[in-house]
Amino acid sequence: MLNILENIDLTLLNTLHLKSIASHYIVLNQVEQLDEIREIISNYPKFFILGGGSNLIIPARYQGLVIHNELRGITITDFGQEKIVTAMAGENWDDFVAYCNQNGAFGLENLSLIPGTVGASPIQNIGAYGVEVKDFIKEVVVYDLQTGQLVSLNNSECQFSYRNSFLKNNSRFIVISVSFSLLTEPCLNANYGDVAQRLSSLTHPTPYDLRNIIIRIRQSKLPDPNKLGNAGSFFHNPIIPKKVAQKLCIQNPNLPIFTTPNPEKIKVSAGWLIDSLGLKGLRQGNVGIYQEHALVMVNYGGAYQTELLKFADWVQSKIKEHYDVQLNIEPIILD
Ligand code: EPU
Repeated sequence: MLNILENIDLTLLNTLHLKSIASHYIVLNQVEQLDEIREIISNYPKFFILGGGSNLIIPARYQGLVIHNELRGITITDFGQEKIVTAMAGENWDDFVAYCNQNGAFGLENLSLIPGTVGASPIQNIGAYGVEVKDFIKEVVVYDLQTGQLVSLNNSECQFSYRNSFLKNNSRFIVISVSFSLLTEPCLNANYGDVAQRLSSLTHPTPYDLRNIIIRIRQSKLPDPNKLGNAGSFFHNPIIPKKVAQKLCIQNPNLPIFTTPNPEKIKVSAGWLIDSLGLKGLRQGNVGIYQEHALVMVNYGGAYQTELLKFADWVQSKIKEHYDVQLNIEPIILD
């Protein structure tokens, strides 16, 4: 029997630490609870699945059911050159990366220290330092709230793209577990500027070294959510037509640009655009732009969703006005 709690404070359950109360809240920690959850969901005007709360912009009052996914467990199977590691959705992402690293299953090192849970990783196709989680996902098991069945999605069925997947903004499915195909032989991905530079100073770099380097880079650029509320990158790096990007680059030769799978589209650095207008470190009330990284919005404490979104809207309008580029918010905005 599920224990439904009322008026639960979510302020410490979202990494932006936005002040928020959920009218109803339950913990999901056994797969057997899923059918009961499916039945009770219809009693509420809305629901959402809470993982690590690291990609959410949460309202002052959530009038609905919050289902906190705390399903736990990890299994690892050795197939010679490949290890299949399966983690339940509620496992902490970075603990999982550390576990793989310690158990000789390599590939995820560049994704070290990303806040959140394993279950959230495929939803927004987390990525950092030249690696996206889609490169290693073999299968995602989801619970289909429409049919009450567990369904296995393979990599292509997840329809991964930059910070996006079939599962994003699709409330029909609850992620139950994710299986990763990892390597038994280390193969370090050092294509990203900072990472390549730091690795090159080591004679025989190992996956453990790579993980430590990534952790150090992140710690130097991104705020620790336990100390300063934030949700990592607040805006997507905009993907714009090649011709528009070329024009922007002529006017702004230092703007970092990146290729995309579509040769007609170019990804440009939102952090650079914001930084170039001198907005880094700017504070308005309880919210602001992080001193060390212009793509990160922070809550100095006490902010509500409305204050943060108003500030974000102001930043978006400045970028639009100055560069004619639309910045889109990365985390999911709940109402
Ligand atoms: N830049 C600036 N000023 C800034 C920040 C960045 O000029 O304040 C420029 C610099 O030229 C820098 C470049 O932008 O070299 C790229 O910056 P960074 O390496 O930090 O990467 P990013 O494009 O800003 C993306 C991801 C991050 C991920 C890093 C590293 C998105 C939205 N963000 O940021 O992911 O850690 O690359 O791979 O794609 C997240 O999603 O929460 C996140 C932190």
